[in-house]
Amino acid sequence: MPDDPLARADDPLALFDAWYEAARGCGIDKPHAAALATAGADCRATARIVLLSSHDARGFVFHTNYRSRKARELEDNAWATLLFWWDPLGRQVRIEGPCERTAPEESDAYWRSRPRGRQLGAWASEQSAVIPGPEALAARMAEVTRRFEGEAVPRPAHWGGYRLRPEVMEFWREGRDRLHDRLRFRRTEAGWVREWLAP
Ligand SMILES: Cc1cc2nc3c(=O)[nH]c(=O)nc-3n(C[C@H](O)[C@H](O)[C@H](O)COP(=O)(O)O)c2cc1C
Repeated sequence: MPDDPLARADDPLALFDAWYEAARGCGIDKPHAAALATAGADCRATARIVLLSSHDARGFVFHTNYRSRKARELEDNAWATLLFWWDPLGRQVRIEGPCERTAPEESDAYWRSRPRGRQLGAWASEQSAVIPGPEALAARMAEVTRRFEGEAVPRPAHWGGYRLRPEVMEFWREGRDRLHDRLRFRRTEAGWVREWLAP
């Protein structure tokens, strides 16, 4: 297939942009939802969905509570994977690499773009902690709503972004008879190395 963009792709970030734009245009409710896999010091892998906030040449940014389970695991072991699956397109993208916290100013800027209710929710929820139940969460929400009444809600120091810097990016495209396309890019000192993988 000489005019297949996948066959010609030599820049995984540009390829991600193209696929992400296609995903945004194909009617999926949350094309920015991705599974984030981590493993802490105990080597037990876990995964959960997060929303991609932004991406550029530096990496892929998501936001979370810095005291959550995922954050504790990332402090132990920065290496993580983000996995996107865009069903209508039959496409999957796996992105692996180390995560680091974004600069506080970046987290502030994103925080300011969030609706007030979500800002209050971030104060109300000690993400991943054991709580007595939903009533306790509602009570805490009422408490923080009162506390910040009439003022801008500041960003909690324990809430902010992580940026995953891609070291490996794999693009998977559904094919006939399970003969899917898998194109992997590995970052090396000489640049990205491009390899096809058997499906
Ligand atoms: C569609 C969807 C989007 C989500 N987006 C985020 C997110 O951007 N950040 C986040 O911390 N949790 C998000 N969550 C909740 C996480 O999946 C998870 O339950 C939470 O972060 C706690 O994970 P942990 O205990 O492994 O740290 C989202 C869940 C769903 C289903």
